[in-house]
Amino acid sequence: MFGSKTRALQQRAQNVVPLGVNSNFRFWGDGITPYVEKGKGSYLWDVDGKKYIDYRMAFGPIILGHAFDEVDQKVMEEIQNGVLFAMTGELEVQVAEMIIEMSPAVDMVRFACSGTESTMHAIRVARAYTGRDIILKFEGNYHGMHDHALWSTYAPSEAYGNRRSPIPVPGSSGIPKSMREFIITLPFNDFEGFERVMRSYGEQIAAVITEPCQGNCAAINPQEGFLELIRKKTEEYGCVFILDEVKTGFRIANGGAQEYYRINPDLVTYAKALGNGYPAAAFGGKREIMSIIGHGVAQGGTYTNNKPGIAGAYATLSLLKSKPILKTIEQRGQRLMDGLRDIFEENDIPAAFSGYPSMFSFSLGVDAVTCQREWQRSDRELYLKLVEKAIEKGIMPDHDAREPWFLCYSHSDADIDETLNVYAEIVKEVKQ
Ligand SMILES: Cc1ncc(COP(=O)(O)O)c(C=O)c1O
Repeated sequence: MFGSKTRALQQRAQNVVPLGVNSNFRFWGDGITPYVEKGKGSYLWDVDGKKYIDYRMAFGPIILGHAFDEVDQKVMEEIQNGVLFAMTGELEVQVAEMIIEMSPAVDMVRFACSGTESTMHAIRVARAYTGRDIILKFEGNYHGMHDHALWSTYAPSEAYGNRRSPIPVPGSSGIPKSMREFIITLPFNDFEGFERVMRSYGEQIAAVITEPCQGNCAAINPQEGFLELIRKKTEEYGCVFILDEVKTGFRIANGGAQEYYRINPDLVTYAKALGNGYPAAAFGGKREIMSIIGHGVAQGGTYTNNKPGIAGAYATLSLLKSKPILKTIEQRGQRLMDGLRDIFEENDIPAAFSGYPSMFSFSLGVDAVTCQREWQRSDRELYLKLVEKAIEKGIMPDHDAREPWFLCYSHSDADIDETLNVYAEIVKEVKQ
């Protein structure tokens, strides 16, 4: 799939970093893992110099485009004056004000450096606020690498047990067995199961954490009323509702899923699109809850207000606020989704589309998916066959069918046309 320089770099990298990558998700296999040289706008070039239309967008952060001039200029301007002081500056206060202005559910924020840190801090705050330990999460959602929520992110359906009494599956060796005491898992969109668990354990649950859609499992949408049910029941039992907007924040609407679904969670987590690729992350929410930070509740980090991240966030949010950027992405993404849907229809391949135009997925061989257990019945072999053919032709979605296609402001109508032409051709090829 890739050229000789790519394969050589993989071999060299494997000598010095496990799997030859610095995040397990980037490993696609021996000889079939991409190694990147550079990016600009909607394109990336691998180390063999081959150009691709990029639909991975670094797993979501790139909302404007790679090497986006206005963002990079602001970062370069700011870093002339130092990048880290372990003191607070005006720019980060401005970015906090911008996040609060754009996010309906956020009264106060604290910065972090990654989505993992944001959800870890939010969980700590929720536990401190409620004086409870248990976290309820949904199968197929991913909230980062810490032990508190790296459960049931991905496992064969059989390992999850019966829907009525799901078995939490650790996402890694090395997670202490005792952590299982503190986690309850459920299939996404399981209204009845959720009500039942809340009846039994609601008073012991510190937080219910969910992605608004399953951004780490084919962008499966919440069914109508599901997020509202979470809001209602968490309120009833005094649990904190944490909405993990690491993928949806500053992407599906300026005010994220809070705005899109008119939902009012207690805490929200951000990263990814906040900084167009610079390391910016944040968590925030209701003043009453956030105010306990610093009063017996620890939160901090040397790099939380790193200047490249904060400057990247300032420039990105300024652009989102001043131009109809997400609307433009939505229009192009809709055209891509519609075009792909037509191609699968014309070739009699059932395809269940999910997500939003700026971050969508299609699951092949099925008509609808509402949770990861159902998604596992989709034809992932066919999906992969198409991805590999698309990559040969210069279109790059992720290798893993769980990962949505991400669009950015730099994707042009010509990029969409090119992608549709390639898919029309390769879908026909695999049908023969
Ligand atoms: C919804 C969600 N939460 C948290 C994270 C963790 O973010 P990070 O990789 O920045 O630690 C991710 C990463 O993909 C995510 O998609």
